Amino acid sequence: MISDHPGTELHALASAGPELATQLPAGSDPGATDALDDAAWRAAPAGRWQHRHLLDTDTLSWADIELILQTAETMSGVLARPIPKVPALRGYGMTILFYETSTRTRVSFEVAAKNLSAEVVNIAASASSVSKGESLIDTVRTIEALGARLLVIRHPVSGAPYLAAQHFGGHVLNGGDGTHAHPTQALLDLYTIRSRIPGGSVAGRKVVIVGDLLHSRVARSNLWTLTAAGADVWVCGPSTLLRGFEAWGAAGVAGNRHFTVTSDLNAALRDADVVMALRIQRERMAGGLLPSLREYAARFGITAERMRLAVPGALVMHPGPMNEGVEIAPDVAAGSASVITEQVANGVAIRMAVLYLLAGASGTGAPVPGASGIAAPGSGAS
Ligand code: CP
Repeated sequence: MISDHPGTELHALASAGPELATQLPAGSDPGATDALDDAAWRAAPAGRWQHRHLLDTDTLSWADIELILQTAETMSGVLARPIPKVPALRGYGMTILFYETSTRTRVSFEVAAKNLSAEVVNIAASASSVSKGESLIDTVRTIEALGARLLVIRHPVSGAPYLAAQHFGGHVLNGGDGTHAHPTQALLDLYTIRSRIPGGSVAGRKVVIVGDLLHSRVARSNLWTLTAAGADVWVCGPSTLLRGFEAWGAAGVAGNRHFTVTSDLNAALRDADVVMALRIQRERMAGGLLPSLREYAARFGITAERMRLAVPGALVMHPGPMNEGVEIAPDVAAGSASVITEQVANGVAIRMAVLYLLAGASGTGAPVPGASGIAAPGSGAS
């Protein structure tokens, strides 16, 4: 039911004809010059984006989500070039402020920003004045005073990026807050699923999310995007790790979205098109939620045998980092149906897209590319 190969739309876009060619400005740097010739880049949709921040997916309309995915396809075209760099955010200050550990999100935001030629600064809270007692608000104000116009923040407290957004003059992107939200992960997950489904429509597909729902910001953000896309979303895990979801499931999230909550793993996996395993978050786990990891693995671990309940070729996903042998068997994680490394790679295109769109959001200051001869994102020019 699901093909082994991504759709070809990206390649068509990336090889668009010479009618989209523009003049290169004098003095463009060589790395950007190659990318400036990229028709895919100039075809990036801009000007329809109105959000100043990206704090969760719940405030995104389907048109917003489509715009991000469409822009990410263009960015994938840029990434396929020998020099995957464009000057759109040249000179644009961006700070990555992480109060929690991260590999994928932190690195892919940095790579995305550098591909857009932004000036990137990384701050690990443990190595900053936060360790001397500086408040989040003071830190955010300091970062702004030092020139940042984009702030990517990860924080263990749910809601912290919302507080940062109240005190930061530029754009705030949530890189994951507590157990609340992880919007770019949800967007890259949807992008990955769409790229693998013939025709690119998720509508009516059964997407199963299995694991530690209670602590999962990834699942919460995915519920909005996947149900908005028309997926039939099932969440599954021990009842102690589903708290709060039953009420949400009974309400249907919002309107007539398709959302089922169950502890019956076989029912969840039966005829699934996509199976996403979630990490058991030991660092957030209070006592008494699970008897043991071994028992969890025995009852809810995603194994090759259990995957036989799903449709042949069903996609296997995991946002990472994985506890292999607990929520997912190593052979399933590395198997032919796994798109886990594609999720990571697609994170760069999605983050390039959201940085590009946010930086061009109306009324919040334009990116720099006037100097490079490219219309600023948000200017309405293509
Ligand atoms: N998926 C995810 O957020 O991974 P990291 O913690 O490595 O960023």
